[in-house]
Amino acid sequence: MKKESNYTIKQISSVKTYIVRHPVLREGRPIEDCAFDNDDLETTLHFGLYTNNDLVGVATFLLNNNQLFSETNQYQLRGMGVLKSHQGFGFGDSLLQYGEQQIKLKDGALIWFNAREIAIGFYEKNNYQTIGDSFEIKGVGKHYVMYKKL
Ligand SMILES: CC(C)(COP(=O)(O)OP(=O)(O)OC[C@H]1O[C@@H](n2cnc3c(N)ncnc32)[C@H](O)[C@@H]1OP(=O)(O)O)[C@@H](O)C(=O)NCCC(=O)NCCS
Repeated sequence: MKKESNYTIKQISSVKTYIVRHPVLREGRPIEDCAFDNDDLETTLHFGLYTNNDLVGVATFLLNNNQLFSETNQYQLRGMGVLKSHQGFGFGDSLLQYGEQQIKLKDGALIWFNAREIAIGFYEKNNYQTIGDSFEIKGVGKHYVMYKKL
């Protein structure tokens, strides 16, 4: 894979994430469907990856404990996406790793999320593992819980 090194990552507002959430994660659905519960809590962090001043990747981390895990300070990753035109350049890796560093700075002990089946390979390369059986999210498809202790 050709790793593109011309990019910057910064914290962004929840509304900015729609630029990527909409085409990548909510294609063909109303823009309102891009809003997630708790997007605007003070503890919620949204990160955006820019290349040539264009926002092309987003990831959101919510302070949210999953009872599958015992850690007290867990973050849920949601809305991880890179525009199709920019996939395969290492941007997903860079964004995820940046997010992990920021969560560590907030004393986050574990990151978990519901992963789409097609994205599992990406997360495994980043040392996440699945736990439990697959489950269906209506309208989105088969998912697994994945996690990593920080
Ligand atoms: C999954 C996604 C975020 C990855 O972003 P990306 O910028 O394309 O990924 P990268 O270029 O950083 O790839 C990193 C590595 O993961 C691999 N990879 C990327 N997507 C993959 C996938 N869907 N399945 C398996 N491996 C994948 C790449 O080949 C690369 O491996 P390498 O380092 O051995 O070459 C992006 O493809 C995406 O937005 N997909 C659609 C939305 C989605 O499914 N989001 C996740 C919801 S749970």
